[in-house]
Amino acid sequence: MKVLITGGLGFIGSNFIRHMINKYPEYDLINFDKMTYAGNPENLKDIEDNKRYNFVKGDIADSALIEKTIQDFKIEAIINFAAETHVDRSIENPGEFINTDVYGTHVLLEAVKKFKISKFLQISTDEVYGDIEPGHFSKEGDTLRPSSPYSASKAGGDLQVMAFRRTYDLPVLITRCTNNYGPYQYPEKILPLFITNIIEDKKVPVYGQGDQIRDWIHVDDHCQAVDLVFHKGQIGEVYNVGANQDPEVSNLELTKMTLDHLGKGEEMIEYVKDRLGHDVRYAVDCSKIKELGWKKEINLEEGLESTIKWYQSNKDWWKKLKSGEYLAYYKRQYSDR
Ligand code: NAD
Ligand code: TYD
Repeated sequence: MKVLITGGLGFIGSNFIRHMINKYPEYDLINFDKMTYAGNPENLKDIEDNKRYNFVKGDIADSALIEKTIQDFKIEAIINFAAETHVDRSIENPGEFINTDVYGTHVLLEAVKKFKISKFLQISTDEVYGDIEPGHFSKEGDTLRPSSPYSASKAGGDLQVMAFRRTYDLPVLITRCTNNYGPYQYPEKILPLFITNIIEDKKVPVYGQGDQIRDWIHVDDHCQAVDLVFHKGQIGEVYNVGANQDPEVSNLELTKMTLDHLGKGEEMIEYVKDRLGHDVRYAVDCSKIKELGWKKEINLEEGLESTIKWYQSNKDWWKKLKSGEYLAYYKRQYSDR
């Protein structure tokens, strides 16, 4: 099978391509990526010469190039990871998020329709449900109440997918996963930012009081879930994916765990001005994907430890990223907080 994977030079997409190329020798994978600041060819350096791996540089909102790629490679299925993904950047500059996460998804759906693609899997997020009250776990049928320009744009993408299902009967699926962590995550997200700051002996900026709750899942567990939904998911359905941490872990607790692993104390924490519109808690009900046969394999303690080791052993990878545009971004985000 020839599968188009968009956004495969990013954090989750690159981990997913590595997972698929090793597991399915009968698949050809075509990675279509715009190479934004988050798209890094080094993420897939180890497989770039693999004959079953191809790369096309392009924007998913460019319908002519999407159509040409589908025809050139005789694409049969599409998995869409491509997105602008950082909430803080979406607060600064929401327009790019609409272009990629909403319009780009629409362009892919039009191509699915035109070329009768056999399966389209949209990689979405639990953030589309918005803030969740303590004790409640979002179900796939819950109303979408996104709070940030990022989550609103992802919700816009999901709604396009569901509308194309209903109207044109397209063979679509959606996954909505909680916060991922692991190797190759761009150091703007909390864990790689904090791990690399601590290694560099820099303080870590905790927003507000750090009492917000995210449900941290290792990227390998997410990749397994995407693989399962792609192969066994029921067409037209949405599947939540999460770690269901019990007890739940606040940002401050996660920060302290990270400091502890790196042998540093709480004096490294700097409490800074809160994020605008900051969602307090995300939590999803994963019973539907569990019925398909998925379960989390990596607990947070061991996953955090191996992730920290990866950033300790791959300083060249992230030191290159923490320069140039990143420094300008960091200054904009953090200097007046
Ligand atoms: P990332 O920011 O690390 O990577 C995004 C990738 O998409 C980059 O390679 C970038 O170059 C590419 N891209 C961006 N705009 C594009 C465009 N217009 N055309 C083609 N490529 C484009 O993101 P990530 O953390 O790997 O997230 C991947 C997907 O998973 C996203 O759809 C995101 O919403 C979703 N998701 C992420 C998380 C998380 O915790 N990171 C959790 C749940 C869902
Ligand atoms: P982030 O990794 O940006 O993911 P998301 O906003 O998609 O959940 O942020 C995770 C949590 O960490 C979120 O509650 C915001 C918080 N946070 C900080 O406290 N400090 C930081 O420097 C960053 C980047 C995030």
